[in-house]
Amino acid sequence: MPKSLHDLRSRRWFAAADMRAFSHRQRMQQMGVRREDLLGRPAIAIINTWSDLSPCHAHLRERAEAVKRGVLIAGGLPFELPALSLGEVMVKPTTMLYRNLLAMEVEELLRSHPVDGAVLLAGCDKTTPGTLMGAISMGLPTIFCPAGPMLNDRYLKGGQAQTVGAGTHTRMFWDEYQAGRVNEAEWVQLESRMTRSAGTCNTMGTASTMTSITEALGLTLPGASSIPAMDSAHTRMATTCGERIVQMIWEDLTPARILTRGSFMNAAAVQMALGGSTNAAVHIIALARRAGIELTLADLDTVARRIPVIANLFPSGDRLMEDFYYAGGLPALMNVIAAELSLGEMTVTGASLGANILGRDVLDAQVIRPLQDPVGSGAALAVLRGNLAPHGAVMKASAANPKFHKHRGPALVFDNQPQMLRAMADLKLEADENTVLVLRNAGPVGAPGMPEWGNLPIPKKLLLQGVRDMVRVSDARMSGTHYGSCVLHVSPESAVGGPLALVQNGDIIALDIEARSLELLVDAAELARRRAAWVAPNRRFARGFTRLYQEHVTQAHEGCDLDFLQGTQATPEPEIY
Ligand code: FES
Repeated sequence: MPKSLHDLRSRRWFAAADMRAFSHRQRMQQMGVRREDLLGRPAIAIINTWSDLSPCHAHLRERAEAVKRGVLIAGGLPFELPALSLGEVMVKPTTMLYRNLLAMEVEELLRSHPVDGAVLLAGCDKTTPGTLMGAISMGLPTIFCPAGPMLNDRYLKGGQAQTVGAGTHTRMFWDEYQAGRVNEAEWVQLESRMTRSAGTCNTMGTASTMTSITEALGLTLPGASSIPAMDSAHTRMATTCGERIVQMIWEDLTPARILTRGSFMNAAAVQMALGGSTNAAVHIIALARRAGIELTLADLDTVARRIPVIANLFPSGDRLMEDFYYAGGLPALMNVIAAELSLGEMTVTGASLGANILGRDVLDAQVIRPLQDPVGSGAALAVLRGNLAPHGAVMKASAANPKFHKHRGPALVFDNQPQMLRAMADLKLEADENTVLVLRNAGPVGAPGMPEWGNLPIPKKLLLQGVRDMVRVSDARMSGTHYGSCVLHVSPESAVGGPLALVQNGDIIALDIEARSLELLVDAAELARRRAAWVAPNRRFARGFTRLYQEHVTQAHEGCDLDFLQGTQATPEPEIY
């Protein structure tokens, strides 16, 4: 039912004829806000993840002003509320440790303040799922304003100009530097050439995967996730977000009316067509659980088997997000896979997904390919199971060397990241390209926070021999910008007694992507003997959010949310005294 002025949540703070409402109005007038605006307009929270240490969000302070303009144009009253910024590169030990903290913060910011709806300004990897998880749980009308990808850059090598972007190229050039094919001066020059502007990573990494998924869920304006951060269209999009959220309040268009199993399956389809980040498997399940929707790794695998990668974007392809925008962006891609989508799903525009993408055609078939001409042969996501991953593991098959799609090799096991890094630098390391590198104690509880350590570096000895890919297995995650034959998110993780804890050097590990299997070829009696002797690693934190996290985080196949935040139980409204 459309809301009237008298239904506004913010009036609980401002409209009563008591001393408390008097002081609320008084304090807002102290800030220059007029009494008639407090009583006559919907109050809009602009949740802003800007910070001086988050280059992906460096422009969000200005974009907040554009959102405010839209809110005012539409008759609302904007209030900017800063939230945890979570710049992916700077925050240690890993932003994943704090995704749930951001989700809690957003839920509590919205709950505790006099606001009627929210615009979320975010985009770096964890800020999209983090802000959305909180907003879904709070349930107010919400629109997501994605930060947008940074611009492409060009790098000159040997007189040849090469387009470069963030993330994937860093790993590629690092391997070449280690192998001696990039010299010191070039390495220094590259440092300033790969990240040309504010905005999120411009490969199909986790950031662009998650903002695209958000658009497919119906929570952004049509096409919003593809607009480069520095394009004037981005500022205009931000203004329209501000305008639209006010209308959404009158329409009472909440996330609960937008998010359905159909919209989540649309999001999964988009993830696969994009060749999206494996991290999305964790985030999308966490989001679905916040919305009370059953979504499993098996669902994602089913979609991945049906929908090939058609976005020719790093790391599966060879273009960047700016090219994707010029090629028509996400609405054009969704038209290519329209037969696989549930087009009747509601969106923040008040219209269906199908109506939003109507007539948005592909403008460059080299970047957004037809279904008959996909990028490579591998699916974006393969969900593996077997005695090494009873609850599942994931792999980005499209970014793995096809020769490793079916592989058997001896394990070389590392119990922690420093031990592994030391070994990788050892020129006498006993390993060849058939070795399966294993890293454990890197999952949600064990690390803690499930950092992006799953793209284990190739041993330097093998890099010098020209090896660029190997099979790697871990309970960690991998950056969406990275590539390689990396089996990730092994669940349950080793630190809680998952079978990864039982692997020993020389054990044979068998991977078969087509069969979706991951097996440790050690007989059951021997595994039982090892389990009886296993001692849980003693890496428990005594205080702070990390302690709360370790005590309550769920496993990767369950979304790594805190167990008490999942589900749709109503967030209680605060008492106002
Ligand atoms: Fe922010 Fe990649 S570091 S999106």
